[in-house]
Amino acid sequence: MSHSKHVIAPSVLAADFANLNKDIQMINESEADWFHIDIMDGMFVPNISFGFPVMQAISRHARKPLDVHLMIVDPDRYLQTCKDSGAEIITVHYEACTHLHRTLAAIKELGCKAGVALNPHTPTHLLKDIVQDIDLVCLMSVNPGFGGQKFIQHTYHKIAELRAMAAGINDALMIEIDGGVTLENAGRLLKTGADVLVAGSFVFNSATPLDTIKALKEVDPSRQEI
Ligand code: DX5
Ligand code: ZN
Repeated sequence: MSHSKHVIAPSVLAADFANLNKDIQMINESEADWFHIDIMDGMFVPNISFGFPVMQAISRHARKPLDVHLMIVDPDRYLQTCKDSGAEIITVHYEACTHLHRTLAAIKELGCKAGVALNPHTPTHLLKDIVQDIDLVCLMSVNPGFGGQKFIQHTYHKIAELRAMAAGINDALMIEIDGGVTLENAGRLLKTGADVLVAGSFVFNSATPLDTIKALKEVDPSRQEI
């Protein structure tokens, strides 16, 4: 996966919730690949974003896959609802799943791609015995719960570790980076082995989001020095 062109997934968390359709259309018309949808429950993370009825409304207008990041405790309770609300990729947190193998099987059973997110403090080696069953690993490069936070530099090490761990076992594994992604760090993230870049505030707080998405899409890791 790291050989093909990378995926850009703007995070709807940073959109204008009072004018969601405008921002959905912007993403539809942009060079973005996916919609990143952040669902928070006020328990797993100290914030509440929006729930499945809102996601379902988004899915009626979105013309690209919905990449759903569940920041909720016991996500098994909502996998079917998540699928029914339009999810193509469902990512659960490692820290929220006691029986992760079963949860990933349930996601695939629904016909979705299965993702696992790791908090900044959660070591990649904890995925050693499950890496073959994962479609996407979402490495949190900020503490989940809020947009607009500062990128945690240690994330680069985690990308490299994960890529090495998956080599020969799951070469199709997608590595997604979520939090604090900008044009400053995108090149190095891709060069280190990331495939998917989530960007919220960097896209939506920019003067021209369409151009910002285009710029992120056009980042060329082969021209990156480190
Ligand atoms: C954080 C969310 C992110 C967030 C990223 O909990 O998972 O997807 O929207 O926002 P930025 O790009 O602003 O760090
Ligand atoms: Zn997210």
